[in-house]
Amino acid sequence: MSQVAVIGCGVIGLTSALAIQRSIRNTKVTIFTKDITPNTTGDVAAGLWEPYLVDDTEEKSFGGKAKEAGISLQPIINLSDKRDHKIPDWVNVTLGHSELSRDHLVNLSRRYNKNFTAGYLFVSFTWEASYFLPFLQREFEKNGGRVVMKEIKDFNELAHYDVIVNCTGLESRNLTGDKKVSPIRGQIARVRGPWQFHTYIVDSEKSCYIIPNINCVILGGTKQSSYNIEVDEVDKQEILSKCSDLLPAIKAAEVIKHQVGLRPGRDKVRLEIEIKERDKDTIKIVHNYGHGGSGITLSVGCAVEAAELVEKVLNQRNKSKL
Ligand SMILES: Cc1cc2nc3c(=O)[nH]c(=O)nc-3n(C[C@H](O)[C@H](O)[C@H](O)COP(=O)(O)OP(=O)(O)OC[C@H]3O[C@@H](n4cnc5c(N)ncnc54)[C@H](O)[C@@H]3O)c2cc1C
Ligand SMILES: *[C@@H]1O[C@H](CO)[C@@H](O)[C@H](O)[C@H]1NC(C)=O
Ligand SMILES: *[C@@H]1O[C@H](CO)[C@@H](O)[C@H](O)[C@H]1NC(C)=O
Ligand SMILES: *[C@@H]1O[C@H](CO)[C@@H](O)[C@H](O)[C@H]1NC(C)=O
Ligand SMILES: *[C@@H]1O[C@H](CO)[C@@H](O)[C@H](O)[C@H]1NC(C)=O
Ligand SMILES: *[C@@H]1O[C@H](CO)[C@@H](O)[C@H](O)[C@H]1NC(C)=O
Ligand SMILES: *[C@@H]1O[C@H](CO)[C@@H](O)[C@H](O)[C@H]1NC(C)=O
Ligand SMILES: *[C@@H]1O[C@H](CO)[C@@H](O)[C@H](O)[C@H]1NC(C)=O
Ligand SMILES: *[C@@H]1O[C@H](CO)[C@@H](O)[C@H](O)[C@H]1NC(C)=O
Repeated sequence: MSQVAVIGCGVIGLTSALAIQRSIRNTKVTIFTKDITPNTTGDVAAGLWEPYLVDDTEEKSFGGKAKEAGISLQPIINLSDKRDHKIPDWVNVTLGHSELSRDHLVNLSRRYNKNFTAGYLFVSFTWEASYFLPFLQREFEKNGGRVVMKEIKDFNELAHYDVIVNCTGLESRNLTGDKKVSPIRGQIARVRGPWQFHTYIVDSEKSCYIIPNINCVILGGTKQSSYNIEVDEVDKQEILSKCSDLLPAIKAAEVIKHQVGLRPGRDKVRLEIEIKERDKDTIKIVHNYGHGGSGITLSVGCAVEAAELVEKVLNQRNKSKL
């Protein structure tokens, strides 16, 4: 029986732990974590799934379980008043897309009192952490996994595990001193708006987004290089005013709460094996962190890859024992 420790119980840690359980036989997985849902970064996110770099893994994994997994299909309209706005290549793998015609843009500009010059619509879904994190945790525990509430200060604490999977998000910076990891602060508002059924993204001087979730509508948002987890008064007013400028009905919507999350920014995701020498032994680590503003989107794809890396380490270990 191989023993695998996963550090972190956010969307990355949970999906990685489940992928390891599903694909590697004879393996016991334990998650060590400081926080669990509803206190992880994903719990702040809107959960919009923008399908770049991913295949159809999500559909395969959660077919028929949309409700428990918190998946809602919806149209997403991305509008811009910039000259260089262009449709990203990944729209081709969404469940449908179209470029908005000049006529349509003129009409929307008139309606919203803007000067939109470009825009596109695609069909995707939101994947809500408040539903799917508890769901993933239940699945993990049903498969024999254990979640231990414990902060890991040093890798050596887990030296007796065959492999350690590092899914600590932003805090990777403090733990290993990876200076490429830095916070991208996101403040949002959750309001009551059961009349809103599709997402608006406005890409302009006054960028904003309006994303319906199951029990609320997310208004956003900021992207700042800051560790401040307190709700900022200026950001709060700006988010509400930009969103209600676009959709006046927002003005009357009841605010449920304002929230801040720190996205684990990095030039790219770190998904690799690290072998650390320790006395006569070695510690084997698989890193899976630095997903920035797309951790929910990328989670399942990265988890499958992390599980492959874990299997590779275990196989090598077994070979060297012979
Ligand atoms: C406002 C906002 C909107 C967003 N919108 C979207 C979106 O629409 N779509 C999308 O795909 N993504 C979105 N994101 C990004 C997404 O939320 C993140 O990329 C993702 O949640 C990161 O997950 P994670 O598991 O790496 O990190 P976290 O959720 O931060 O998890 C890290 C885990 O590690 C644990 N941990 C850390 N250090 C230690 C330690 N030393 N010992 C033990 N445990 C430790 C923590 O307790 C936690 O459980 C958004 C983020 C924000 C803030
Ligand atoms: C490694 O060997 C152990 C027994 O020594 C076995 O239980 C385990 O399945 C093997 N792991 C892999 C990935 O082959
Ligand atoms: C989340 O954090 C709050 C505030 O620190 C705490 O009271 C609560 O117990 C935490 N929830 C879980 C499930 O750990
Ligand atoms: C909106 O579209 C622009 C141009 O393609 C793109 O740069 C931006 O990331 C899009 N925004 C979102 C949230 O998808
Ligand atoms: C989508 O695919 C079509 C046909 O293969 C191609 O012509 C088009 O350029 C692609 N669109 C984008 C935005 O990549
Ligand atoms: C734009 O508005 C005009 C006038 O109301 C209408 O005739 C036309 O069908 C609209 N076009 C689109 C694409 O919505
Ligand atoms: C749109 O552009 C026109 C002409 O450039 C300008 O007069 C008008 O004020 C702009 N409207 C908005 C809402 O920015
Ligand atoms: C990580 O380091 C930053 C910057 O030094 C600090 O603000 C933050 O509180 C640290 N986080 C933890 C959990 O120690
Ligand atoms: C996780 O990775 C980060 C970045 O490399 C590192 O600082 C940290 O020490 C790692 N955590 C553990 C427990 O190894």
